[in-house]
Amino acid sequence: MIKGIINYSHYLLETAVTAGDTVIDATCGNGHDTTFLAKLVGETGHVYGFDIQDQAIENTKIRLAQSSLTNASIIKDSHSNFIHHIPVDQLTKLGGAIFNLGYLPGSDKSIITRSESTILAIEGILSHLKRNGIVVLVVYYGHEGGTQEKEQLMRYTRQLDQKLFSVLYYGFINQKNNPPFILAIQKRN
Ligand SMILES: C[S@@+](CC[C@H](N)C(=O)[O-])C[C@H]1O[C@@H](n2cnc3c(N)ncnc32)[C@H](O)[C@@H]1O
Repeated sequence: MIKGIINYSHYLLETAVTAGDTVIDATCGNGHDTTFLAKLVGETGHVYGFDIQDQAIENTKIRLAQSSLTNASIIKDSHSNFIHHIPVDQLTKLGGAIFNLGYLPGSDKSIITRSESTILAIEGILSHLKRNGIVVLVVYYGHEGGTQEKEQLMRYTRQLDQKLFSVLYYGFINQKNNPPFILAIQKRN
């Protein structure tokens, strides 16, 4: 079967990230991706998770604890400030990142990811990413403000130098109601 959006985003990370890597969950939310990443990098790796909402930080910490995962630092700050929270020796092992865009399900729909900080964070992460490392963006855009972020991200990722990065678009073109899609950026050799 063709993989759904969440499964495919995890599959992409599995192909690029190895045990012992440093990885970033740029939007922790309820912690599903953080937990997935913590298992993926194993005890020798580390996840840095970011969110700007207390509820997301709390939910993510609970989810990690439920799986007895201790290899993650959960930080209440914008992903655009990631550089201030990750030690240099950890940054050299940066194998991947995921951005699950939009709003926290079941919470305030006006607190959304915004293209300015999202793109700032992506640019910074790309400059530190290992060769073959990957940044996966899961783009939800059905909410107010979502289309603007989607368009800015399409514009930004389209102009990335193809000699340096492979940029993938993955989505279902016959689904109704603004289905989410994936943009993935892999650093080339
Ligand atoms: C779609 S949710 C993430 C869902 C999450 N990946 C999960 O597995 O449950 C988007 C999250 O991005 C957060 N967010 C919005 N702007 C942010 C920013 N500048 N930096 C970090 N997180 C941000 C929101 O608070 C929200 O929790």
